[in-house]
Amino acid sequence: MTSYRKPWEHAKSGGSHDDRLAARFVESLSYDTRLYKHDIRGSLAHAAMLAKVGLITQDDLDAIQDGLAAIQAEIEEANVTGWSGWHVDLEDVHMCIEAALIEKIGEPGRKLHTGRSRNDQVALDLKLWIDEATGVLEQDLRSLFEAFLDLAEGQGEVVIPSYTHLQRAQPITVGGEAIAWLAAFDRSLTRLLMMRVVGAGNPLGSGAIAGSSLQLDRIATAESLKVGEPTGSSLDATASRDDAVDFTYCLSMIAMTLSRWAEQWIIYMTSEFSFLKIGESYTTGSSMMPQKRNPDMLELIRGRCGNVYGSLVSLLTILKGITIGYNRDLQEDKRHVFAAYDTVRDCLAMAAGIVRSARFDATRIARDIDRGFADATSLADYLVTKGIAFRTAHQLVGQLVRQCEANGMVTLAELPLGDMQAVCDVIEADVREYLGAENVVGRYVTYGNAGLSGYQEQLARWRERLEKLNSDPE
Ligand code: ARG
Repeated sequence: MTSYRKPWEHAKSGGSHDDRLAARFVESLSYDTRLYKHDIRGSLAHAAMLAKVGLITQDDLDAIQDGLAAIQAEIEEANVTGWSGWHVDLEDVHMCIEAALIEKIGEPGRKLHTGRSRNDQVALDLKLWIDEATGVLEQDLRSLFEAFLDLAEGQGEVVIPSYTHLQRAQPITVGGEAIAWLAAFDRSLTRLLMMRVVGAGNPLGSGAIAGSSLQLDRIATAESLKVGEPTGSSLDATASRDDAVDFTYCLSMIAMTLSRWAEQWIIYMTSEFSFLKIGESYTTGSSMMPQKRNPDMLELIRGRCGNVYGSLVSLLTILKGITIGYNRDLQEDKRHVFAAYDTVRDCLAMAAGIVRSARFDATRIARDIDRGFADATSLADYLVTKGIAFRTAHQLVGQLVRQCEANGMVTLAELPLGDMQAVCDVIEADVREYLGAENVVGRYVTYGNAGLSGYQEQLARWRERLEKLNSDPE
């Protein structure tokens, strides 16, 4: 078995190179090869800068550029994992690519690492990766937005109860609920994009910890990589992983919203609710109970949120002991960032599929939509329009609800007009327009309401927003 020597093995006697256990223990190659593109991009920018400031020749640069382009092509041809240049003895993606370059082009390859350390290199690679991943998540979120928007357009008028404390509150529409999820996910997108502003900065040129005595042009690499200004502290740039944490926090927020939505729909799918059916392929049966249609996909979305939180807490915990300089603990960051990202991407795709397949059972929901006196607030509003103080109106309607319950009535509409007038003499026949869920959802007028007008107004805004997202993927 060939073993590959790390560039510093000559400087020490023995160590990880000769020890299989140590070599396996120290490597990150098993999970960092997905940084290959970003690593090569960073190296190209670094090499161009080295040539610009005269630390390498134009010929060196040409050789490095050709060599790296050939290596990238080889890696991609081999579907990344199959590339013959990955040698675990070389620890990580950075050293494998550099070793392959030296093997390919010889001496110029040995100059690439001038003024650079893996510490600023990996900080940059991860930043570039997060930038790209943010763009991918934007696309994933856009597909989910589209699914919710189609739901709002197709089934938005279906009247459903809303719940506070999981008790019936006020009637709303399916459109109103769809807009609620859209609003929450949209905030997550804004948060992701904002984090890229916070995380901007070029760590390249920070070296191992203290910068360099070579005249590196950090502005040149910053500009060619489009990562913002050179970072102001080499110590901080090589020792911090704020953008990994910020990114994973953003993923956690997406996972949390997905989980809440999943929980909501799991409840809607119970026999007790029967509000909703989703595509058969998104449910599973039971090996014992022939009748079962279990919402396993939704449950897994809810469950996997726990994994994503786990990644966030792992990262934060790894970082809490890091002194201000690179420590190898930092290598563990990528496991958690990648795992959280992969999980959230899977969940977003599954969620979009489920939303697209969802059918609300309007007939079934309408059958007992008016149970639970969800129109009581509307009746109180009616009294307010007749000049009654809200606190008094609240009391009077409470009295009417108790009267219904005492007489075995399940809706306010069942009360004869005379009984209502006996409690409050301003009530007239037009009170009927305020009772019943169908009437109530049409009465909300405030901007952003969860009834009819609220979601219908938001639809247009959302179509516009989607178009903007589509035409401007940056
Ligand atoms: N694979 C390492 C990581 O992911 C690269 C940096 C190693 N730096 C060092 N000084 N050992 O963090």
